[in-house]
Amino acid sequence: MTQHTNISLPGFRFTHAEPANFAVIAALFQELHQFNSSLDACFALAENWRDLLHEHFKRTYNSPNTLWLLAWHKEQPAGLLMVEVHKDSPLFQHRNWAELTALYVEPAYRGSDMAACLVTFARDWAAMHGFNRLELYVTASNERAKKFYWRCGLRPVQEIWRLEVDPDAEPVFDIAANQAGDAWKSLLEPGQHYMCAPDET
Ligand SMILES: CC(C)(COP(=O)(O)OP(=O)(O)OC[C@H]1O[C@@H](n2cnc3c(N)ncnc32)[C@H](O)[C@@H]1OP(=O)(O)O)[C@@H](O)C(=O)NCCC(=O)NCCS
Repeated sequence: MTQHTNISLPGFRFTHAEPANFAVIAALFQELHQFNSSLDACFALAENWRDLLHEHFKRTYNSPNTLWLLAWHKEQPAGLLMVEVHKDSPLFQHRNWAELTALYVEPAYRGSDMAACLVTFARDWAAMHGFNRLELYVTASNERAKKFYWRCGLRPVQEIWRLEVDPDAEPVFDIAANQAGDAWKSLLEPGQHYMCAPDET
């Protein structure tokens, strides 16, 4: 049975997503990521994104560690919110926090306060799960989202910096020639990032 939520905004209805809603989830998720990749091509979805999302949804839609929320306007899908538990490396004391992993409002409903309701749901969910922070990643050029988040009380705490790299470029620095013995090889071995917990790769 569809689980309704208790925040109200005239004209809108908010429900926890159910398996029957997957097509709606996928459509909103795709619009969100088409928008994100229009700002930064690095965020283009993989070819098999839909199958992967479906698997993830089936595994987590009922999980206490994930919130999948849909907003509706006159039975039309109007917005999507996803919040998940984020776990950093066990190297860190404060490693668990709530991450807002997706927020999307259909263009027709922007400026309606519906997005603010979704962030309120996210904050309540985080608090109810014992977290003292809700964090998210936002593209630097997404001015509208940044203004919106600021108005909701979020503040930037970290930045991601990027250097464009040409994988075909000749190396300037010869690692092998500058390391004793074979020690340099371990630097290049693909595998586990040291910041990941062994059980979470
Ligand atoms: C981000 C999003 C959820 C915000 O919802 P919204 O209903 O558009 O938000 P609001 O209209 O309440 O607030 C946006 C603010 O940005 C302002 N704004 C609009 N266009 C802007 C622009 N190009 N540059 C800067 N500010 C802009 C609005 O005037 C408003 O300011 P105000 O608070 O002073 O009124 C929605 O725009 C959206 O789904 N965008 C596409 C997906 C996306 O970016 N998701 C977030 C990814 S992290």
